[in-house]
Amino acid sequence: MKITVNGQGYQYVDDPEQPLLWYLRDALGLTGTKFGCGIGQCGSCTVHVDGRARKACITPMSRLDGRSVVTIEGLSADGSHPVQRAWRELDVPQCGYCQAGQIMAAASWLDEMREPSDDDIDRWQTNLCRCGTYYRIRLAIARAAGYLREDG
Ligand code: FES
Ligand code: FES
Repeated sequence: MKITVNGQGYQYVDDPEQPLLWYLRDALGLTGTKFGCGIGQCGSCTVHVDGRARKACITPMSRLDGRSVVTIEGLSADGSHPVQRAWRELDVPQCGYCQAGQIMAAASWLDEMREPSDDDIDRWQTNLCRCGTYYRIRLAIARAAGYLREDG
């Protein structure tokens, strides 16, 4: 099968049931995407598949033929995506472990919802953070939404 990751095409010939997360980290060396719970609950492994947030730990390679995957390494060439900008400005991360997944999740749903209310943010940003950075995450999402609106 064929898969595109961060704009580059690959042929995949290994186990079709292998989770995408293992392929990204072990085969491609894209270690920005983290393993947390492994059962689709925490969101630390969030990537985009054809523009939608997906949990890579529970996405088997068999579902990805012809699909395009973007990881935190490919979200922008230089860390300038509006969500990354807002995250940096507000110094969101604490230990950092969950943060790539947080950013990928926010970047996905903000693409469709440019004026989220506080309730929207609580509803759509469901990734877990063991360090409890939720307050700064909310602020950063609101700021990123503003940047996205400015960028049109
Ligand atoms: S590691 Fe995938 S959701 Fe937790
Ligand atoms: S910043 Fe440590 S788990 Fe979220």
